[in-house]
Amino acid sequence: MFITFEGSEGSGKSTQIALLSSYLSELGYQVQTTREPGGTQIGEQVRLCLHDVANTDMTSAAEVLLYSASRSQLVEEVIKPALAKKKIVLSDRYADSTLAYQGYGRQLDLDALTAITQFATGGLKPDLTIYLDIDVEEGLSRRTMGGEEMNRMDLQRLEFYQRVRQGYLTLAAAEPNRWRIIDAGRPTAQVQGDIRRCLSAFLDSVAPG
Ligand code: TMP
Repeated sequence: MFITFEGSEGSGKSTQIALLSSYLSELGYQVQTTREPGGTQIGEQVRLCLHDVANTDMTSAAEVLLYSASRSQLVEEVIKPALAKKKIVLSDRYADSTLAYQGYGRQLDLDALTAITQFATGGLKPDLTIYLDIDVEEGLSRRTMGGEEMNRMDLQRLEFYQRVRQGYLTLAAAEPNRWRIIDAGRPTAQVQGDIRRCLSAFLDSVAPG
């Protein structure tokens, strides 16, 4: 089972994934968590390059290809082997981030991004995608207040993040069977409760009885 988490800055993905992972492990599931960009030795090197605030000259095409390179490595090295062992894979971001940030945010051609993603992933798609939705300004202020390290993608204007959020909502509306939208502007425990309910319902639906 391949489950991805998407959301804009400050949506709390990593906290929620850590809580969910412990919960699922306690229930006896084998869980593999990972993140993008990164999640492999090569991917973490690509992440450093992508996030380096000195790399302001990076072209949008180079940016897409680097995210995709990291993703390709992650799919082959981590995700596919974990799925083959019947683990539940929880990924902090995946291909929908490219459509949201580079497609809707940077306004690159969505068909081209889909083709690049197909090449990078061999067509591997998530079974379920949980979108943690948060007001853009609230998310950005949470991120600053949380003292998180600022990266190159944090240097964008507010309108960029607003396009990203609208992009996510458009992607979710186009594939309602795969996406679940959760209001992430609430306390951590409430958000986690909703995530667990979504997941239980989904697990029941794919393995009834
Ligand atoms: P995060 O690790 O804090 O989520 O930061 C990752 C940043 O990279 C975030 O700003 C979103 C961005 N990103 C893209 O723009 N495209 C992608 O394909 C991925 C995976 C991430």
